[in-house]
Amino acid sequence: MKFTHALIEKNITLMIVLIIAAISVGGLVEIVPLFFQKSTTEPVEGLKPYGALELVGRDVYIREGCSNCHSQMIRPFRAETERYGHYSVAGEFVYDRPFLWGSKRTGPDLARVGGRYSDEWHRVHLTNPRDLVPESNMPGYPWLAKTAADDGTVGKRMTVLRRLGHPYSDEDIAKAPEALKDRTEMDALIAYLQVLGTSIRSTAR
Ligand code: HEC
Repeated sequence: MKFTHALIEKNITLMIVLIIAAISVGGLVEIVPLFFQKSTTEPVEGLKPYGALELVGRDVYIREGCSNCHSQMIRPFRAETERYGHYSVAGEFVYDRPFLWGSKRTGPDLARVGGRYSDEWHRVHLTNPRDLVPESNMPGYPWLAKTAADDGTVGKRMTVLRRLGHPYSDEDIAKAPEALKDRTEMDALIAYLQVLGTSIRSTAR
């Protein structure tokens, strides 16, 4: 035993390999079970996959880089839950691909912004935030109201997500273009914002 220890201490390559092996085992033991735990893989009760309009809105949110200033993850601390509502749980994000948790909070967390303001509030705010919050440094996104929400790909996007496990029916996919008809990207983004965090609010807040 003494001999082996001396051997490891004197051979730096062997030591590195063994350190990596030890850390990997620790990591695997902590991380792998998460993939199989019900609380991290199953949707919370009442969670629905994003509808066609919300899904397009989510893609606008990603494209416009809203996550550069807004997180979508309420931590389980009193200061956070009193301001934003119930802390985020893993089961709320089962239909989020990719996750938009973010890490930068130039603006407030948006994980439970759904239902907090009217659609009209969002419309004015997204067009020019300073009309509502004079000190805001959020940019305006007026062009969203001029771009059609339907670029002809939503059915395809939903089909791909269904393959990944989102429970869309054939009817949901067939009716997707209808849901986007005459709607703008602004409508889509607002529809997305209005659904954020609403699945568990009613029961847990
Ligand atoms: C440069 C940083 C920045 C970017 C980028 C940004 N925001 Fe904001 N946002 C803020 C700030 C700061 C506030 C707080 C002041 C205000 O309400 O305007 C805010 C507030 C908000 C609010 C109100 C939240 C609340 O609880 O009062 C919403 C909703 C929002 N932003 C949505 C968006 C969306 C959607 C996008 C992308 C299209 C976006 N923001 C991009 C900085 C940003």
